[in-house]
Parts: sequence; C-alpha cells; structure tokens
Amino acid sequence: MVKAGIWGVGIGVPDRVLTNKDLEQMVDTSDEWITSRTGIRERRIADPAQATSDLALLAARKAMEDARVDASEIDLIIVATVTPDSMFPATACLVQAGIGAAQAAAFDLSAGCSGFIYALEIAARCVEAGAYRRVLVVGADTLSRITNWTDRSTCVLFGDGAGACVVGPVKQGGVLSMYLGADGTGGDKLHIPAGGSRLPLTAEAMQEGKQYIHMAGNEVFKFAVRIMGDAAVEVIRRAGLQSEDIELFVPHQANIRIIDAAAKRLGLTPEKVFVNVQKYGNTSAASIPLALAEALEQDKIRPGDHVVLVGFGAGLTWGAAALQWNAEEDQLR
Ligand code: UT7
Repeated sequence: MVKAGIWGVGIGVPDRVLTNKDLEQMVDTSDEWITSRTGIRERRIADPAQATSDLALLAARKAMEDARVDASEIDLIIVATVTPDSMFPATACLVQAGIGAAQAAAFDLSAGCSGFIYALEIAARCVEAGAYRRVLVVGADTLSRITNWTDRSTCVLFGDGAGACVVGPVKQGGVLSMYLGADGTGGDKLHIPAGGSRLPLTAEAMQEGKQYIHMAGNEVFKFAVRIMGDAAVEVIRRAGLQSEDIELFVPHQANIRIIDAAAKRLGLTPEKVFVNVQKYGNTSAASIPLALAEALEQDKIRPGDHVVLVGFGAGLTWGAAALQWNAEEDQLR
C-alpha cells in the first residue's frame, strides 16, 4: 500500500496584532494574568474585510508553492473550520475557486480545534487508498468573529489564522499512525448556543450574547490535560514507537499549562516541544498547522524525524498523528 506524507506547508495570518496590554484597555484583565495563566502575549486579528477563506487562501497558496504542486493537480480540498465565511457554501469551495483547482472536490469539516488532525486523517487515508493523489488540507479560523469581546474569560484566549499542507503519496515514512476520538456528551462545554437550527439567530438570542463562544474553561482545561497526554501516548503506541523516539512534539496551542502537562506526561524535554502560543493565542483549527509550519521554518524538523501532532477541541474531540518527516526525494510525483 502506498503511504501518505506531507509535501509542503504554508501559513496565513492577519497583520493586526492585539497585545495583552491592548486587552487591558478592553476588559478587566492584566498582562500578568494572561501570561501566567495561558502563556499568550499577543494574537492576530483579521481585518474587517478578511474572512476565513481569505486566510485559508494565503496558507493554501504557500503550501502549494512549498510542495511544488499546481492548482490543476489538487484533487481534494478539505477545510477544517468552525468559522466558515457563511453557513454555506463550504469555505473549501471558496478556496477551490480562489486557487482555481477545477479538478478538486471540496468540503468543510467541523471538529473544533482538532479539525486539522481530523482532516489530515481523511486526506492520508484517501491518498493511501489511491482515491486521491494531491489533497490540500487547511485549518483556518477567525475566532475573533465569534468572540464576545466583553467576556474576559474567553476573549483573551483566541486569535485568527490559517495553516495548510499538501498531502501526497510517499515511498516511506509519512503518516505512521493516527488516533481520533470524540465525546459528544461534553458538547455543551464549548459551544455557540445560537445561529443553528436548534436556536436560530434572533434579536433576543443576540441580546443574550448567544452568538458567541461559551466555554466552561476549567472543565475544558481538565479534559485537555488528560486527553492530550492520552492521545499522544496512544498514537505513539500505534506507530510502534516510544516517547524517546520523538524528535518534536507539536501540540495544539491553547494554553502553555496544558502543553507543559502533556510534555511532562510524555517525559519530553522543552527543546522537543514546539510552542508559539505566545504569538498567536488559540487559533483553533489553524493552531497545529501554524505551529508545524513555523517549526519547519525554524529548522526544528529534519527528514527522518518523528513528529507527533496532538489536538483537542469542541465536540468534544481529540486527535493525534505520528509522522516520520519525509525527504523530498521520497515524494511519489
Ligand atoms: O481549544 C480549546 C479551547 N479552550 C481551551 O483551551 C481553554 C481551556 N481552559 C483554560 O485554558 C483555562 O481554564 C483558562 C485560561 C480559560 C482559565 O484559567 P483557570 O486557571 O482555569 O482560571 P479560572 O477559570 O478558574 O478562573 C480563575 C479566576 C476567576 O476569578 P475568581 O472567581 O477566582 O475570583 C476568574 O474570574 O480568574 C478570573 N479570570 C480572569 N482574571 C483576569 C478569568 N479570566 C480572567 C482574565 N483576567 N482574563
């Protein structure tokens, strides 16, 4: 069976930076509280004219360039997002039109901050099955649009961004194992109450702020600490590896305390853990590909390295991937 690997990566983030000091002017918070409780120092906020597909397109174009793949070769596009440009059409279709990938099927996937890992599993399995040969996977969110900017317990956490990769067949290595999971009984711990078929958006619902993210922060925190460790341990086991074989751990960037707890559980030293939460905050589905792309840019991943990606999010969901980074000559072009 052919294997699937990541051929190229790219990111797209808005220019505008919102710092903790800026937030001090907006809600009753402090740089000290945000930094010590989350590790976040600043985040990017989309321009009013920018929607999720615009950030997704920036990332997609860079990933295709990095992978040396033309739009005409892309045969499937998956966009993981909880902030589509609109309820429909799918943001993936807007990306398809934007890059001009006329041969590609396109759909969105909703798995919160685990969305990129979910999409990566589908992409990898499609490539392995021979059903598709060049899959564009994008994680993109503009959480600033669904954030209540008067709620200090959530507004300090989130930011906007996109990360993308092209998945294609490889001779060896690539995606070694994956592990996805969900616990729908925890759905109300992190959700948007209004704007769907259960509770359509009305003036009354909006007055109550039900169009925004509602989160039981502490319960999500406890879930995250447990599941990040469990998912990483399981995906490493499925790959037939030990944690000491891992050269780089790239976790979902939600909170440095959650990342530290997972790293401790795996016995990883700080240099084996990639962190950029201080720059971007929690960018939801974009978080893992944004971190992966920056880790590559900083030469923290070399061909042959074992890399573990782990995320958790709304659903509740979780997902992990163990990869062996491919040399370019391993790509089956
Ligand atoms: O991708 C998945 C998305 N979600 C997450 O990753 C979130 C997971 N949860 C967390 O990261 C943490 O639970 C938070 C960072 C959200 C909160 O940290 P915590 O240590 O769990 O704090 P807490 O919610 O228990 O709140 C502690 C105190 C409270 O005050 P009292 O009741 O003890 O007086 C809050 O009102 O901190 C207060 N607080 C704040 N104070 C200053 C909450 N938010 C703020 C704030 N600034 N922004």
